[in-house]
Amino acid sequence: MAWLKKKSPCGQVSEGRIPKHIAFIADGNGRWANERGLPRFEGHRVGKDAIKKVIDRCFDRGVSVVSLYLFSTENFNRPKDEVEYIFNLFRQMSGELVKSLLKRDAQFRLMGDLSLLPADIQVSINDIIQKTSTCASRVVNFGLAYGSRHEIVGAVNKLLASGIKVITEENFKNYLDTAGLPDPDLIVRASGEQRLSNFMLYQAAYSEFYFPKKYWPDFDEKVVDECIEAYQNRKRRFGNI
Ligand code: FPP
Repeated sequence: MAWLKKKSPCGQVSEGRIPKHIAFIADGNGRWANERGLPRFEGHRVGKDAIKKVIDRCFDRGVSVVSLYLFSTENFNRPKDEVEYIFNLFRQMSGELVKSLLKRDAQFRLMGDLSLLPADIQVSINDIIQKTSTCASRVVNFGLAYGSRHEIVGAVNKLLASGIKVITEENFKNYLDTAGLPDPDLIVRASGEQRLSNFMLYQAAYSEFYFPKKYWPDFDEKVVDECIEAYQNRKRRFGNI
């Protein structure tokens, strides 16, 4: 029985209905810092540590695909030093990231326009993709320089260039950055804001949404469990009755 909840050894989270794919929108780093009288940068720095906690807990709970919206196409409009600080955090974490991906047999994917990122980050991302390309158990999908409208328009242009005359749902999804990945079962936005902000607009057609009132730097194992429990209490009908 799909709705029957089996208690897992560590809490309320059911082993039976674990979302295959959870997509997180990291938000509230600035407010987290502001409320503590700290500069915005501190929110991003602590937010970087939340990424690892969240991925690890998701994988421990049996989630196969974890997407994280970390930097949007619109975020390039922020002050230069903030943008550079965020990219530096990626530079700092990339070595550890590869190690932990390999340990988890997790493939790294990028959702976003690689060409918009600084040259050394492009090299680093290609390197992580290559090093984890044979990992087959799980996926970590980073949204960097990502915007869903940009992705959709890009997909249409690639389809036109390929000579395909008729666009179908099947061939269209193969041209999205998420090609080959299941749609997110659950989309979680940190900070309590309830909007998608140009995230996975096509893929979210049947996703469940959850908006914990927690800023991204406060995301940890407990919050991930709370998200999964919230998902387990939803009835998904996919348009059926
Ligand atoms: C949104 O919070 C967060 C971001 C735009 C950046 C996310 C960055 C990290 C999680 C750090 C690690 C990053 C990488 C790329 C490894 P906000 O700054 O919009 O917060 P606010 O709405 O409270 O101002």
